[in-house]
Amino acid sequence: MTTLLPEAGRGEGPEAGDGAREAAFDAAVAADERIEPRDWMPDAYRATLVRQIAQHAHSEIIGMQPEANWITRAPSLRRKAILMAKVQDEAGHGLYLYSAAETLGVGRDELLDKLHTGRQKYSSIFNYPTLTWADVGAIGWLVDGAAITNQVPLCRCSYGPYARAMVRVCKEESFHQRQGYELLLALSRGTPAQHAMAQDAVDRWWWPSLMMFGPPDDESKHSAQSMAWKIKRHSNDELRQRFVDICVPQAESLGLTLPDPELRWNEERGHYDFGPIDWSEFHEVLRGNGPCNEQRLGRRRRAHEEGAWVREAAAAYARKHGGDPGDGDGKAAA
Ligand SMILES: [Fe+2]
Ligand SMILES: [Fe+2]
Repeated sequence: MTTLLPEAGRGEGPEAGDGAREAAFDAAVAADERIEPRDWMPDAYRATLVRQIAQHAHSEIIGMQPEANWITRAPSLRRKAILMAKVQDEAGHGLYLYSAAETLGVGRDELLDKLHTGRQKYSSIFNYPTLTWADVGAIGWLVDGAAITNQVPLCRCSYGPYARAMVRVCKEESFHQRQGYELLLALSRGTPAQHAMAQDAVDRWWWPSLMMFGPPDDESKHSAQSMAWKIKRHSNDELRQRFVDICVPQAESLGLTLPDPELRWNEERGHYDFGPIDWSEFHEVLRGNGPCNEQRLGRRRRAHEEGAWVREAAAAYARKHGGDPGDGDGKAAA
């Protein structure tokens, strides 16, 4: 939509009832058009997007922590500069996504409050610790790699602001994935101890990365509706399979093995078969019993409290210069 008049939104003509609006919404989704903030949309569509975008935004900013853990100990200036840029990118991804969520009528303060009080989730993967420098490589290669596999189709998501945010996020994620791969390659070709460190990191991050695609299709309660609305384009299992197929040859060229004895090419399916995933672990971590859940949320809350003066100062500055005070005092930015 290009107009700024609220009544000009799709299906919101003077005589359009809910049925007509819903039909216009369904037709737009069916025609692969984008739904924009001023367009009429079903309440459940809006709620699904808020939940998904918020969870995505939270994952970006919580995801800064495990890697930031290694900034001060990066083995060279080059590695430190790359890692700082990468962690900073994740903060930027959080910002794009909170902004996209705000177009749906929720405030950033409200979303952050839900994160801090455990009422909204972030990706479980960030509740695992980063024990060695090689974990930075494994996260880039596998965690950012899984994120890209998930997010590339979101560039075609039916909700315009989310789809557009994803275009830039995906470009940056592909840099993250490559830096992780390159880091692991250097370790894999290094001393035997470095090679072993890289292998150990891949052993620990492989299965949690597969879990990032969410529960199997037959247990995924939101999947079918999200696909009908074209928020999601592929099922969890489809994306997981795509990720495995991409990773196997990459692991070979890295000279590392993936920790799954059942991993083999299936000629008939044209895909790699892989072993069963331990979903009990996934559910435990989701329930808050992962190795770092408390630490991650605790640090996030502290960062938020300690940053209160920055938000207040920004809001005061904006007021003084006649701008929008933004979300600094708890209101949604325009
Ligand atoms: Fe990101
Ligand atoms: Fe990333």
